[in-house]
Amino acid sequence: MSTTTASSRNHGAQQAGLSSILLWLWGSAALVFAMAIIGAVTRLTESGLSIMEWNVFAGTFPPLSQGEWVRLFEVYKLTGEYQKQHLGALDMAGFKQIFWWEYIHRLWGRLIGMAFLIGLIVFSVVRLRGGWSAHKWLMPHAIVGFLLICFQGFLGWYMVSSGFDTDLVDVSAYRLAAHLGLAVVIFIYFIGLGARVRLGETAFSFRALWNLPSLLVVLIFLTLLSGAFVAGLNAGLVYNEFPTMGGALVPADYQTAALPWYRNPFENPTAAQLHHRLFASLAAVVVIVAAIAIIRANTSTSPAVRRWAWAALIVVIAQYVLGVVTLLYAVPIPLGAAHQGGALTLLATLTLLRAHKNETLTAPVQRPAAMTVAQSRITSQI
Ligand code: HEM
Repeated sequence: MSTTTASSRNHGAQQAGLSSILLWLWGSAALVFAMAIIGAVTRLTESGLSIMEWNVFAGTFPPLSQGEWVRLFEVYKLTGEYQKQHLGALDMAGFKQIFWWEYIHRLWGRLIGMAFLIGLIVFSVVRLRGGWSAHKWLMPHAIVGFLLICFQGFLGWYMVSSGFDTDLVDVSAYRLAAHLGLAVVIFIYFIGLGARVRLGETAFSFRALWNLPSLLVVLIFLTLLSGAFVAGLNAGLVYNEFPTMGGALVPADYQTAALPWYRNPFENPTAAQLHHRLFASLAAVVVIVAAIAIIRANTSTSPAVRRWAWAALIVVIAQYVLGVVTLLYAVPIPLGAAHQGGALTLLATLTLLRAHKNETLTAPVQRPAAMTVAQSRITSQI
């Protein structure tokens, strides 16, 4: 066998390994994305508290007998949500409907954990056998990813358990924000790891943290967290008008006397909604200006960076408009779920923009020969 044939076979095997790893990482991110949509629908259909029990293995199976359905319905009747919102109005058919959303949500969580774990085991074995040696750095990150998924399962339960308080009709908005926030961290992590596998080390380097695309990711992440409080406090059901709130930019009940100032932003629906509007407006303006600057910086911008900047520009405008329409129509389920999906799409876009931008820091193939290293560093900060 000639050396050329052997090396091209080796190259082919590496490429195949790379594609399967990408499928694993980005496939897992896609499962998390779908989970976020299912989670939004679960919340919007008020289904989240329909399963009051937590059993990682036995909970995989739905009720298989009428007796089991009746038992679970009786347990649900103990919740404040049932007693204050559904007493006498929810029958077994209605209970089954909300049960299935929560069941699918939990089943999907198990699917994500299993799919990721299987990939982790398979790639570890392949690596140990010396069949695939590239990307040694990936395994510790993948283990962190798996631990984050496990912790997310715990956080989901911690969130749901806050709704079992008979005085409450919903879960804690703080815990909902933590649960959504961690889901999004996992989502970005998997996208970023995939980008690093595909583009090279700098694409997801923590050292290159402080550049403009990173700032955009942080801004949108904060906007997303502020949105989680709007969702958690049902604050999309007040002030269904835009841009004013009750005819003013700052409504009269922005600070309620019932709450100390430090809890007001997180527990008063009016304040949560106003803050989400402000965060979203600031973040949208910054993303739009930055994307235009990147697109117009012809000398240093690679086609991939420009493409992702265009994507960010379009997605941020669409997400902003979708947010306004969702508010004006008082959060119909399809719009609420789409708004959730839009936030994740925007973050994915910015993560990939960041990855491609970082890649160009060390692969300055597109720069004109006359540009000095100092000049190229300055332009790459844009
Ligand atoms: C960059 C822009 C925006 C981002 C990234 C964003 C993100 C989010 C996120 C992640 C949620 C939580 C969804 C859930 O848990 O189901 C949310 C909720 C919400 N957002 Fe936004 N948002 C943006 C702009 C806006 C704007 C401009 C408005 C309206 C003025 C708005 C109105 C709402 C409303 C009403 C909800 C509650 C929806 C629900 O109860 O499901 N958003 N937002």
